[in-house]
Amino acid sequence: MLQERIADVGKFVEPDRVRREVYTDPRIFELEMQRIHETVWIYCGHESQVPKAGDYYTVQIGRQPMLMVRGADGKINVLYNRCPHRGNMMCGDRHGNAGEFFRCSYHAWQFHLDGKLKNIPMMESGYAGTRFGKDSPDCSMKRAARVENYRGFVFASLASDGPTLLEFLGESKVAFDDMCDRAPEGEVEVVPNCFRVIQHSNWKIFLENQLDALHPSVTHQSTGRAAHEVEKQIAKKAKKGEAPLSYHMLSAFATVTIDKWDNFQTLNYPNGHCILTGYMGLRPRDPDTLAYDKLMIKAYGQKRFEEIVGVNIHHVLIYPGLSVQSPLQQLRAVRPLGVDRTLTEIWHFRLKGAPEAIYRRSLAYYNLVNSPATLVNADDLENFWKCHQGLSSDGGDWVTFGRHYGRDLIKGNAVETAPNCGTSEAPMRNQMKAWAEYMRGA
Ligand code: FES
Ligand SMILES: [Fe+2]
Repeated sequence: MLQERIADVGKFVEPDRVRREVYTDPRIFELEMQRIHETVWIYCGHESQVPKAGDYYTVQIGRQPMLMVRGADGKINVLYNRCPHRGNMMCGDRHGNAGEFFRCSYHAWQFHLDGKLKNIPMMESGYAGTRFGKDSPDCSMKRAARVENYRGFVFASLASDGPTLLEFLGESKVAFDDMCDRAPEGEVEVVPNCFRVIQHSNWKIFLENQLDALHPSVTHQSTGRAAHEVEKQIAKKAKKGEAPLSYHMLSAFATVTIDKWDNFQTLNYPNGHCILTGYMGLRPRDPDTLAYDKLMIKAYGQKRFEEIVGVNIHHVLIYPGLSVQSPLQQLRAVRPLGVDRTLTEIWHFRLKGAPEAIYRRSLAYYNLVNSPATLVNADDLENFWKCHQGLSSDGGDWVTFGRHYGRDLIKGNAVETAPNCGTSEAPMRNQMKAWAEYMRGA
């Protein structure tokens, strides 16, 4: 067993530091795939990606190529993307419509959209008296052990036992509530298609960066400064003295200086999930926002509206594979491909029933901050690659997560950063704590 060859994974993780092999050892990566990604709930996609029967999207869960497909009955199935005959992948395209059933391109075995065998060419003459045929489970496409959907977001677990999706998500489900509640119709819709970026670094490096409040004003300072310069020039010329909100999305990297990031707070929960509060909780008063507010009040009433837009979240990290910025309807799914290769799918969503201008805001953030075209993303990617290179060297054995260690506040099963400790490395400690628990098989 792989696990026996890696003596005591616990020795790789201490509360405030982690051995470098955790990021670079291919054997540890293999065990992570078994123990974490192919066990816990992994995000497959949003139901609006597959609106019609036969619509499918391929998705990677751990090392397994999977298919998310809408069945004839309207239900969403998650299947292994593999023909049970000789193993051919059923769908080679990233997404499409299978029609009324799947038909393998190799020998034309056919399957219903829930994976059950429909027909084999000359089945009677070819298989009568053998153990293969219509009723043999080996002749159907294998299904993910469990599939659940929360507010349109579809997850699958390849393990038949374990917590339910809601038990797994715990407090982090606020990511989906916050996103959907901000829509006058209470639902979001995916914007096709996503950006796909392959990072040449370990998957955990990306996740550890998501709530790293110390890095933005350093790594993204050059972008922030440039944006702030232009913002000031536009503001000078503009009648009302304000540049469009999209400039603020970038200039904040310079105007929120390094010391101010300690004013934010992170909340850290079981299973490695973490929340960064603040920042985008701001409520602009421009005409577009006021028009949106009106629609929201009509839909929800004043009291509920205040509750919804008062949710003060910038970022939710759902360990081990999802980074959600709910107030701006952004979602990034993390798919490890190898110990030093990680795919991120970068999506954004439309609030159903909200004015076009509000959608444009989400699109602006998507393009300016999260897309591969922005320097914000490029600067992060360069750090990730350089981190992976450094960790692959013999220059040191440990990665340290000691910032504000010992100062966090324990509240029930949550760990909150104390006042003025927003740059605490508590989120990284929390993720590695969950990692060690999963790897021990806890
Ligand atoms: S491999 Fe699919 S039908 Fe033969
Ligand atoms: Fe960054």
